[in-house]
Amino acid sequence: MDKKRVGILTGGGDCPGLNAVIRGFTKSAIIKYGMEVIAFYDGFLGLIEGRFTILRQEDVSGILTHGGTILGTSNKANPFEHYIGKEGSRQKIDISDRCMELYEDLGLEALICVGGDGTMSIGGGLAELGAKIIGVPKTIDNDLMETDVTFGFDSARYTATEAIDKIHSTAQSHHRVMFVEVMGRNAGWLALESGIAGGGDVVLIPEIPYDINEILAVVRKRSRFGKRFSLVVVSEGCKPKGGEQVYQRIVKDSPDPVRLGGVSHIISNQVEDATDIECRVTVLGHLQRGGTPTPLDRILATRFSVKAMEMVVEQKFNQMVAISGNELVTVPLEKVVDKQRKVPRDSTLIQAGLAVGMSFGAKLE
Ligand code: F6P
Repeated sequence: MDKKRVGILTGGGDCPGLNAVIRGFTKSAIIKYGMEVIAFYDGFLGLIEGRFTILRQEDVSGILTHGGTILGTSNKANPFEHYIGKEGSRQKIDISDRCMELYEDLGLEALICVGGDGTMSIGGGLAELGAKIIGVPKTIDNDLMETDVTFGFDSARYTATEAIDKIHSTAQSHHRVMFVEVMGRNAGWLALESGIAGGGDVVLIPEIPYDINEILAVVRKRSRFGKRFSLVVVSEGCKPKGGEQVYQRIVKDSPDPVRLGGVSHIISNQVEDATDIECRVTVLGHLQRGGTPTPLDRILATRFSVKAMEMVVEQKFNQMVAISGNELVTVPLEKVVDKQRKVPRDSTLIQAGLAVGMSFGAKLE
């Protein structure tokens, strides 16, 4: 082996910008540093099963604008909790030693793990076993600690805003209360920012438990003032005061098994029953994870990936690349794992929403 080798994988749920990272990293590794890039398929599953390829420049040419990940991903694969056997006789085993053997056999200088909290956490576990890990933060939820923003968020925010704009006009025509449910898991960033961008009348986020009476008050008040429609942007993770989140399914074998969704149907029925105004629900779902990345995400993904390659050369391992203001910084993986960055109550975004008459479905000071 005459060239130095560096590995990359994309883990967890996909989002726009993953291919931009794969491209940026591969090009920079080959063009600037003359290294060879080993790419694992389907996130950590490729590492577990020994499925990988050598990426050449031509493999990543033309993918900057493409959604998804050319490598595939998995939000179930975890070398520390690997399931074997058939349904009924399934067994959980730790297969991390085998992954480390492959890592050593391939002679990797480092392994770049592109993903969210789950991916960083597995990366951190491998780092403890001796792997040299560099994290690159992705997620449409924007809930990773220690970075102002993750790539993928801007594209999802754009998709959600565009959808809200479209729902706005039909809400107006039919004099309805329209609910748009967006993703985001336990963090309200996507709902909050697309809600502000789309001029939502009510925005419900997990960080502020809602009171149905507050939502009814907004809808009724708007009716009294001649506004015969309302737009409610609902984060999938929101919950009523004293109540629970609504989940759609439990994904067996997933490190984070709860899949949220459906809360807007419940609120919509409550509003329709109480006001007699017609309500409709649109759940945006995985639309928010697809499509071409926005220019901002393409730039962020490229900057992150080039920085990750610099970190390999500078031997800054077991760190995640992050952005603070407009500066790229590095943060130890342990500061990131098992935490979620949520919308703080004193967020200027909440203040801005309140100042323009937006309701958060609760009485806020
Ligand atoms: O974390 C990204 C995300 O899209 C969340 O917003 C959402 O709750 C979840 O993943 C959906 O997961 P899945 O693709 O497994 O349905």
